[in-house]
Amino acid sequence: MIDKMDVGKRLSALRKREGYSQAEFSELLNVSPQAISKWETGVSLPDIGTLLDMSWICKVSINSILEGDDYTEGIGNIGREHVFMDKILLCPQCRQPLKLKKVCDSPITYACDSGHSYAVVDGVLDFNTREIPGELWSLAFRNYEGYLREHHRPQNPNYRRGLSQADVMWQAIEKKRPKVILDMACGQGMGIKQQIERINWPVTIIMVDISHRILKWNKVFYATECRNPFVDMVYLACDGANLPLKDGSVDLVFSYGGYESMQAKMMAGLSEANRVLKDGGCSVYTKSVVEDFESENSKAWMNLLLSAVSGDEEAWWKKELVNVQQWEEYCRAVGFKENACTKIYGELPAPDTEVFPFENEMAQWMAEYVFVSTKLQKGRAD
Ligand SMILES: C[S@@+](CC[C@H](N)C(=O)[O-])C[C@H]1O[C@@H](n2cnc3c(N)ncnc32)[C@H](O)[C@@H]1O
Repeated sequence: MIDKMDVGKRLSALRKREGYSQAEFSELLNVSPQAISKWETGVSLPDIGTLLDMSWICKVSINSILEGDDYTEGIGNIGREHVFMDKILLCPQCRQPLKLKKVCDSPITYACDSGHSYAVVDGVLDFNTREIPGELWSLAFRNYEGYLREHHRPQNPNYRRGLSQADVMWQAIEKKRPKVILDMACGQGMGIKQQIERINWPVTIIMVDISHRILKWNKVFYATECRNPFVDMVYLACDGANLPLKDGSVDLVFSYGGYESMQAKMMAGLSEANRVLKDGGCSVYTKSVVEDFESENSKAWMNLLLSAVSGDEEAWWKKELVNVQQWEEYCRAVGFKENACTKIYGELPAPDTEVFPFENEMAQWMAEYVFVSTKLQKGRAD
């Protein structure tokens, strides 16, 4: 949607930059001085013919008058999405801005002034991160066929109880109509694909995962089986706990179980999401929680789970087992001052056995909530 106030501010700045008073500009464009005043105060917009004249006089494109800094165009054979990333990328090693470099037929590369450079390999901007050693999720995919099978596999019924998580997340996303979405620890994007199908406004989606392999298959999948002409996709193989993005560069951070997938880096990931969000931006994500530490059901499940793990895994689970109130405290601690949540489903009834029944996806017994955590400038929600 075109923001008339923003267009007005840009028109006023352009007119002044070119050295015209409102009266002179109105004469030049053959319109009344009142029309100029209405455009510049956001009451109305110029017609297309007048916009064309103004774009010529001010030597800027009509798109940049209407969209300002949000407007990005591809350069030669470099796609618009890669030109856009030039505005927001930061070197994860030295925190200097990364600028787009492309020489003839060499791969698209971004480099900083300190000499660190990162190339787009198989359509994925590669920050040279590696998968968590032994991580079952991404290692389970041997090739693109295996990856595709996972997309089409029927969902575990334990995740199909309660409300539709996709509908609840969509309500929060649609309300914001974000222009830049980041999907944290996106994996195959089982969560975001249900949103991509519905998006009907221009968006850039930045898919972030530590695994380059998953992302290179995502690149193929989202260009063929899940294409939406409103959506530009960008793939960053990087650590979600050290995002290569400038502060305040993203409108919404989406995550379908992604924060908890980051395990020991979960809180660092949440904190990074907060950093890269614009003021007023939010993170919309699912999170597993313990219903009630005092209930017999929660106690039985926690005992079963903790008897099945040891060492680092046990330490991780002890941290991960939080209820809604504790989670909201964590969110506030990293700067999300406003937190709302919707319960998708409650805990499964605890089984009458001594043995924890799940080998993988060990949180599937837990309650699931969709959280909307909003970043607000200091003071506004205090
Ligand atoms: C099971 S997926 C989560 C589900 C996924 N969000 C979806 O919508 O399908 C977990 C992903 O987290 C990624 N991951 C784990 N640690 C990460 C980190 N520190 N930064 C980025 N991604 C990470 C893994 O590589 C894996 O692909």
